[in-house]
Amino acid sequence: MKVLGIESSCDETAAAVVEDGRVIISNVVATQIPFHETYNGVVPEIASRKHTEWILPVVKQALSEAKLTIDEIDGIAVTNRPGLMGSLLVGLTFGKTLAWATKKPFIAVNHMLGHLYAAHLANDISYPYLGLLVSGGHSIICKVSDFDDIEVLGTTIDDAVGEAFDKVAKFYGFGYPGGVAIDKLAKLGDPRAARFPMPFIDKQNRAGNVAEGVAAHRYDVSYSGLKTAAINQIDQFWNADFERTPENISAAFQEAAVKILLSRLLRAVEDTGLTTVVAGGGVAANSRLRALLAAETGLTCVFPPLKLCTDNGAMIAGVGYRFLARGDRSPWSVNASARVQGFKKSGRA
Ligand code: KG4
Ligand code: ZN
Repeated sequence: MKVLGIESSCDETAAAVVEDGRVIISNVVATQIPFHETYNGVVPEIASRKHTEWILPVVKQALSEAKLTIDEIDGIAVTNRPGLMGSLLVGLTFGKTLAWATKKPFIAVNHMLGHLYAAHLANDISYPYLGLLVSGGHSIICKVSDFDDIEVLGTTIDDAVGEAFDKVAKFYGFGYPGGVAIDKLAKLGDPRAARFPMPFIDKQNRAGNVAEGVAAHRYDVSYSGLKTAAINQIDQFWNADFERTPENISAAFQEAAVKILLSRLLRAVEDTGLTTVVAGGGVAANSRLRALLAAETGLTCVFPPLKLCTDNGAMIAGVGYRFLARGDRSPWSVNASARVQGFKKSGRA
């Protein structure tokens, strides 16, 4: 079964053709980065306008690179949540209309299921496992029992991890997207240059509860404290033996950011007994996160290839295949939603 996957939830206009949920026949990603770079962040209106301009050429290119016509496609899958509303609506309306006009099976796909599925496009992974979904909008630690059966164990109580990378990079003018810039600079810096506190983690007592006012669970993460420390209170945490260079700031920030994730993930490993971790989302491209996780003995860590960590249509086609293959279809009335939806909440205390 050949599925056309369409993705337009944020600032990438993307389309791909994937066969049987595994073989990527084509994968076209038109990035809008140059249009948002000047603003150091995604401008929603620019994003929607670019999607409107690019969606047809991108889908056409995905089909022509696959050497297929639309008649040879067996189903159409489109991201409908979560993301920027104006961006989602472009891809969703386009995909729905295309499916209706060509009488193809149509399925709306949760973007976060896509990020998790990205690793499956290149690896054989069996369920259940622990998922680490880390992107510009999400930091989720979850138990994954099937491609669409996800129980959220922990999430962020404030900023997402990618958002913290982006905000720190924006403040210091390191470049855009912030995560990519910091990862690159950090390779030339020393993580010991600053010892940023991890207040949320330090405050949490052994029972997994924190002081009142700080919503928390054993697996929740927090990034606003680290962001403030790295931006406004850097003098307080700087190690005087080191020069205050972009490389050193990046290395120290990245180290703390990644260790927050790791500490929570290891708790989930300990509690659930699951030893396979599958990562997904833009921050899963982070070289330090990949290295630290790979070095954890006793864990099997699966990362998507770098190109599939950030937004793409292949991951949506992959999930779409799994739904369509078991006979699921979305109604024509299906709408876009800015929120995640559809994830189970664990029996959190
Ligand atoms: O998954 P994605 O493309 O879009 C969302 O669904 O949010 O993720 C984008 C996020 C941005 O915050 C970006 O700075 C971050 O992923 N990112 C990285 C790296 N590459 C992208 N963060 C850390 N290290 C990287 N190498
Ligand atoms: Zn994404």
